[in-house]
Amino acid sequence: MINIVRASADLLPEIQNIAYQTWPKTFSNILSPEQINYMLNWMYDLKALKTQLQDKNHIFLLAEETGKYLGFASYETNHEGTDKTKIHKIYILPEAQGKGIGKKLIQFVEKAALENGNKMMFLNVNKFNQGAIDFYRRIGFYEAFKEVIDIGNGFIMDDLVMELKLT
Ligand SMILES: CC(C)(COP(=O)(O)OP(=O)(O)OC[C@H]1O[C@@H](n2cnc3c(N)ncnc32)[C@H](O)[C@@H]1OP(=O)(O)O)[C@@H](O)C(=O)NCCC(=O)NCCS
Repeated sequence: MINIVRASADLLPEIQNIAYQTWPKTFSNILSPEQINYMLNWMYDLKALKTQLQDKNHIFLLAEETGKYLGFASYETNHEGTDKTKIHKIYILPEAQGKGIGKKLIQFVEKAALENGNKMMFLNVNKFNQGAIDFYRRIGFYEAFKEVIDIGNGFIMDDLVMELKLT
Protein backbone atom coordinates (compact mmCIF):
# COMPACT_ATOMS: atom_id res chain seq x y z
CA MET A 1 0.00 0.00 0.00
CA ILE A 2 1.19 3.50 -0.82
CA ASN A 3 1.38 5.92 2.11
CA ILE A 4 1.63 9.66 1.69
CA VAL A 5 3.73 11.27 4.43
CA ARG A 6 4.61 14.87 5.10
CA ALA A 7 8.38 15.28 4.88
CA SER A 8 10.36 17.08 7.53
CA ALA A 9 13.89 18.39 6.94
CA ASP A 10 15.53 15.03 7.68
CA LEU A 11 13.78 13.53 4.63
CA LEU A 12 14.96 16.18 2.17
CA PRO A 13 17.84 13.91 0.98
CA GLU A 14 15.18 11.38 -0.13
CA ILE A 15 13.51 14.08 -2.19
CA GLN A 16 16.82 15.13 -3.68
CA ASN A 17 17.57 11.51 -4.54
CA ILE A 18 14.24 10.98 -6.34
CA ALA A 19 14.73 14.24 -8.29
CA TYR A 20 18.24 13.24 -9.39
CA GLN A 21 16.97 9.84 -10.56
CA THR A 22 13.91 11.22 -12.35
CA TRP A 23 15.02 14.49 -13.96
CA PRO A 24 17.50 13.18 -16.57
CA LYS A 25 14.94 10.65 -17.91
CA THR A 26 12.15 13.24 -17.94
CA PHE A 27 14.07 16.07 -19.57
CA SER A 28 16.81 14.46 -21.71
CA ASN A 29 14.78 15.12 -24.88
CA ILE A 30 13.64 18.57 -23.77
CA LEU A 31 16.55 20.35 -22.06
CA SER A 32 20.31 20.33 -22.54
CA PRO A 33 22.37 18.38 -19.96
CA GLU A 34 23.81 21.77 -18.89
CA GLN A 35 20.34 23.16 -18.17
CA ILE A 36 19.30 19.99 -16.30
CA ASN A 37 22.41 20.28 -14.08
CA TYR A 38 21.85 23.99 -13.56
CA MET A 39 18.22 23.50 -12.52
CA LEU A 40 18.97 20.54 -10.26
CA ASN A 41 21.68 22.54 -8.48
CA TRP A 42 19.40 25.55 -8.18
CA MET A 43 16.26 23.81 -6.91
CA TYR A 44 17.45 20.56 -5.34
CA ASP A 45 20.57 21.55 -3.48
CA LEU A 46 19.85 20.55 0.14
CA LYS A 47 20.18 24.15 1.28
CA ALA A 48 17.71 25.28 -1.39
CA LEU A 49 15.25 22.55 -0.40
CA LYS A 50 15.60 23.57 3.25
CA THR A 51 14.82 27.19 2.35
CA GLN A 52 11.71 26.09 0.43
CA LEU A 53 10.56 24.00 3.39
CA GLN A 54 11.39 26.36 6.23
CA ASP A 55 11.23 29.89 4.80
CA LYS A 56 8.89 29.61 1.83
CA ASN A 57 6.24 27.42 3.47
CA HIS A 58 6.37 24.74 0.80
CA ILE A 59 4.95 21.49 2.10
CA PHE A 60 6.76 18.38 0.90
CA LEU A 61 5.00 15.04 0.58
CA LEU A 62 6.64 11.67 0.03
CA ALA A 63 4.93 8.57 -1.31
CA GLU A 64 6.23 5.54 0.56
CA GLU A 65 5.72 1.82 0.08
CA THR A 66 7.29 -0.80 2.35
CA GLY A 67 9.93 1.63 3.54
CA LYS A 68 10.94 2.82 0.07
CA TYR A 69 10.26 6.34 -1.12
CA LEU A 70 8.87 6.29 -4.66
CA GLY A 71 7.87 9.87 -5.37
CA PHE A 72 7.29 13.31 -3.95
CA ALA A 73 5.32 16.49 -4.42
CA SER A 74 5.60 19.95 -2.94
CA TYR A 75 2.89 22.57 -2.72
CA GLU A 76 1.96 25.88 -1.15
CA THR A 77 -1.57 26.82 -0.14
CA ASN A 78 -2.62 30.49 -0.35
CA HIS A 79 0.16 31.18 -2.82
CA GLU A 80 1.33 34.81 -2.53
CA GLY A 81 -1.67 35.70 -0.39
CA THR A 82 -4.23 34.45 -2.93
CA ASP A 83 -6.84 31.72 -2.61
CA LYS A 84 -4.83 29.50 -4.93
CA THR A 85 -2.65 26.48 -4.18
CA LYS A 86 0.53 26.14 -6.22
CA ILE A 87 1.92 22.69 -6.90
CA HIS A 88 5.64 23.37 -7.12
CA LYS A 89 7.00 19.91 -7.84
CA ILE A 90 5.85 16.39 -8.52
CA TYR A 91 8.21 13.57 -9.49
CA ILE A 92 7.74 9.82 -9.34
CA LEU A 93 10.68 7.43 -9.83
CA PRO A 94 10.65 6.10 -13.42
CA GLU A 95 10.00 2.51 -12.30
CA ALA A 96 7.04 3.60 -10.16
CA GLN A 97 5.25 5.78 -12.71
CA GLY A 98 1.80 4.87 -14.00
CA LYS A 99 0.68 3.12 -10.80
CA GLY A 100 -1.54 5.84 -9.40
CA ILE A 101 1.04 7.50 -7.13
CA GLY A 102 0.96 10.88 -8.88
CA LYS A 103 -2.82 10.97 -8.71
CA LYS A 104 -2.71 10.07 -5.02
CA LEU A 105 -0.27 12.90 -4.29
CA ILE A 106 -2.44 15.41 -6.16
CA GLN A 107 -5.53 14.22 -4.29
CA PHE A 108 -3.70 14.84 -1.01
CA VAL A 109 -2.83 18.38 -2.17
CA GLU A 110 -6.41 18.98 -3.28
CA LYS A 111 -7.68 18.05 0.19
CA ALA A 112 -5.22 20.47 1.81
CA ALA A 113 -6.21 23.20 -0.66
CA LEU A 114 -9.90 22.75 0.15
CA GLU A 115 -9.18 22.71 3.90
CA ASN A 116 -7.49 26.08 3.44
CA GLY A 117 -10.47 27.48 1.56
CA ASN A 118 -8.55 27.66 -1.72
CA LYS A 119 -10.53 27.86 -4.94
CA MET A 120 -7.93 26.68 -7.40
CA MET A 121 -4.78 24.57 -7.81
CA PHE A 122 -2.24 25.49 -10.46
CA LEU A 123 1.23 24.54 -11.65
CA ASN A 124 3.88 25.20 -14.25
CA VAL A 125 4.87 22.43 -16.63
CA ASN A 126 7.41 22.53 -19.44
CA LYS A 127 5.36 22.90 -22.60
CA PHE A 128 7.23 20.00 -24.25
CA ASN A 129 6.68 17.62 -21.31
CA GLN A 130 3.79 15.89 -23.05
CA GLY A 131 3.58 12.96 -20.60
CA ALA A 132 3.05 15.27 -17.65
CA ILE A 133 0.62 17.49 -19.59
CA ASP A 134 -1.44 14.40 -20.50
CA PHE A 135 -1.40 13.30 -16.85
CA TYR A 136 -2.60 16.71 -15.63
CA ARG A 137 -5.33 16.81 -18.30
CA ARG A 138 -6.43 13.31 -17.32
CA ILE A 139 -6.94 14.38 -13.71
CA GLY A 140 -8.85 17.53 -14.62
CA PHE A 141 -6.36 20.36 -15.19
CA TYR A 142 -6.73 22.66 -18.20
CA GLU A 143 -4.17 24.87 -19.94
CA ALA A 144 -4.53 28.46 -18.74
CA PHE A 145 -1.65 30.33 -20.40
CA LYS A 146 1.96 30.10 -21.53
CA GLU A 147 4.82 31.54 -19.50
CA VAL A 148 8.49 31.99 -20.41
CA ILE A 149 10.71 32.53 -17.37
CA ASP A 150 14.33 33.68 -17.53
CA ILE A 151 16.22 31.60 -14.94
CA GLY A 152 19.67 33.07 -15.55
CA ASN A 153 22.86 31.71 -17.12
CA GLY A 154 21.23 32.01 -20.55
CA PHE A 155 18.49 29.48 -19.68
CA ILE A 156 14.73 29.85 -19.84
CA MET A 157 11.79 27.81 -18.64
CA ASP A 158 9.32 27.50 -21.49
CA ASP A 159 6.20 26.65 -19.55
CA LEU A 160 2.48 26.11 -19.65
CA VAL A 161 0.47 27.12 -16.61
CA MET A 162 -2.28 24.60 -15.92
CA GLU A 163 -5.15 25.11 -13.49
CA LEU A 164 -7.88 23.11 -11.84
CA LYS A 165 -10.84 24.86 -10.25
CA LEU A 166 -11.96 23.46 -6.90
CA THR A 167 -15.58 23.58 -5.88
C1 LIG B 1 3.71 12.90 -14.49
C2 LIG B 1 3.72 12.03 -13.22
C3 LIG B 1 3.85 12.92 -11.97
C4 LIG B 1 2.37 11.28 -13.14
O1 LIG B 1 2.35 10.43 -12.01
P1 LIG B 1 2.06 8.87 -12.20
O2 LIG B 1 2.07 8.23 -10.86
O3 LIG B 1 2.98 8.32 -13.21
O4 LIG B 1 0.56 8.90 -12.81
P2 LIG B 1 -0.71 8.07 -12.27
O5 LIG B 1 -0.39 6.61 -12.35
O6 LIG B 1 -1.18 8.59 -10.98
O7 LIG B 1 -1.76 8.41 -13.42
C5 LIG B 1 -3.03 9.03 -13.17
C6 LIG B 1 -3.82 9.04 -14.47
O8 LIG B 1 -3.10 9.80 -15.46
C7 LIG B 1 -2.81 8.98 -16.58
N1 LIG B 1 -1.44 9.25 -17.03
C8 LIG B 1 -0.32 9.24 -16.27
N2 LIG B 1 0.77 9.51 -17.04
C9 LIG B 1 0.30 9.65 -18.29
C10 LIG B 1 0.92 9.91 -19.53
N3 LIG B 1 2.26 10.05 -19.62
N4 LIG B 1 0.15 10.00 -20.62
C11 LIG B 1 -1.18 9.83 -20.56
N5 LIG B 1 -1.85 9.58 -19.39
C12 LIG B 1 -1.11 9.50 -18.28
C13 LIG B 1 -2.89 7.56 -16.10
O9 LIG B 1 -3.21 6.68 -17.14
C14 LIG B 1 -3.99 7.64 -15.05
O10 LIG B 1 -5.25 7.60 -15.67
P3 LIG B 1 -6.45 6.73 -15.00
O11 LIG B 1 -6.71 7.40 -13.67
O12 LIG B 1 -7.54 6.86 -15.96
O13 LIG B 1 -5.92 5.36 -14.83
C15 LIG B 1 4.87 10.97 -13.24
O14 LIG B 1 4.67 10.10 -14.34
C16 LIG B 1 6.24 11.59 -13.32
O15 LIG B 1 6.88 11.81 -12.28
N6 LIG B 1 6.74 11.85 -14.55
C17 LIG B 1 8.08 12.35 -14.77
C18 LIG B 1 8.35 13.66 -14.06
C19 LIG B 1 7.43 14.78 -14.48
O16 LIG B 1 7.20 15.03 -15.67
N7 LIG B 1 6.89 15.47 -13.46
C20 LIG B 1 6.01 16.60 -13.66
C21 LIG B 1 6.81 17.86 -13.82
S1 LIG B 1 5.78 19.30 -14.03
